[in-house]
Amino acid sequence: TSAEQNTAPGGEGGVVPTLVAAARGEATPHTPVWFMRQAGRSLPEYRALREGNAMLEACRRPELCTEITLQPVRRHDVDAAIFFSDIVVPVQAVGVDLDIVPGVGPVVAEPFRTRADLDRLPELTPDMVTDITESVAGVRAALRSDQALIGFAGAPFTLASYLVEGGPSKNHENTKALMHGDPELWNDLCERLAAIAGAFLQVQVDAGADAVQLFDSWVGYLNRADYQRFVAPHSARVLASVEGRVPRIHFGVGTGELLDLMGDAGAEVVGVDYRVDLADALERTGGRHALQGNLDPALLFAPDEPLMARVDEIVEAGRKAPGHIFNLGHGVLPTTDPDVLTRVTARVHETSGR
Ligand code: CP3
Repeated sequence: TSAEQNTAPGGEGGVVPTLVAAARGEATPHTPVWFMRQAGRSLPEYRALREGNAMLEACRRPELCTEITLQPVRRHDVDAAIFFSDIVVPVQAVGVDLDIVPGVGPVVAEPFRTRADLDRLPELTPDMVTDITESVAGVRAALRSDQALIGFAGAPFTLASYLVEGGPSKNHENTKALMHGDPELWNDLCERLAAIAGAFLQVQVDAGADAVQLFDSWVGYLNRADYQRFVAPHSARVLASVEGRVPRIHFGVGTGELLDLMGDAGAEVVGVDYRVDLADALERTGGRHALQGNLDPALLFAPDEPLMARVDEIVEAGRKAPGHIFNLGHGVLPTTDPDVLTRVTARVHETSGR
């Protein structure tokens, strides 16, 4: 649990990043805040840098990656940077032919369906991603010691869904057909993906990431029994790869029914989407975990009065949790006015400050 964490690698001069302290359940000067997808299309400075650079190329070029990661931190004064990358970067790094198509998402040239496809998923070794090491170290060096750098990886289920479906999917039917039709192949596929995701997290922590988030974005499409049988052991292995080194955040969309299982998979912090009240999330996770969340990203389009009232409610509800990291219930929508994110950050700092 959160109390078992060692010292934070990024906190120089004895200063622990605010987000790390909250994740460990320690007292903080204010509730730390960051936003999923804070680096990206809502920022004009991001769109300018991305001009003429494909997404996956931008992720692999340290000068671009570092700058894009830092843009939202400078602009909003959030308490954490989320490393600018994508869940498919480590899969591409081991040689899988895929692309990120603008407005669509990751598209895999040849979907994974058979045992022979496992050969396309060798181990990820640090020499395959030296640019990631360089970028993470560059970002960490540019942050204040009270700010955190969050590394991340995609969880085996969500990665498998992209590989098996060949791209984004509404119903994940091919993924579920494989899971139930050939459990052995499913498990072997997820084992490979867990090894790759775990190695990707280790590279980021070795280079200075202060915390990690495991994104299992689409696992809310499963029931509890299937989650426990086909997914949790693999996600647990990824989380275990950095156990005791940095706090681990575990997040998925529509996972209200799975929150306790996601915490039990080995995370100090459970990410909560906007459909579940934090008070309910606290009850469902038995008070064993800090919580992260959970403002509805669509509320950023509402007038300030109802928006800030909701922000205050979330901060208040978070005080009852063992620790609270303010965030959205899913990623920033591309058409969000970035000034609203700056104001929400200031509001969280103000209302939560001691
Ligand atoms: O600010 C941040 O959050 C950091 C960067 C980040 C990206 N992807 C950059 C990105 C992170 C943490 C991710 C994770 C990611 N990628 C997830 C999990 C998070 C979630 O939203 O649930 C998933 C499911 C993916 C796969 C993926 N990559 C999708 C669904 C898309 C969107 C496609 C689109 O264009 O709408 C991408 C592309 C992507 N990843 C973009 C960014 C900034 C947009 C590409 C662009 O700007 O051209």
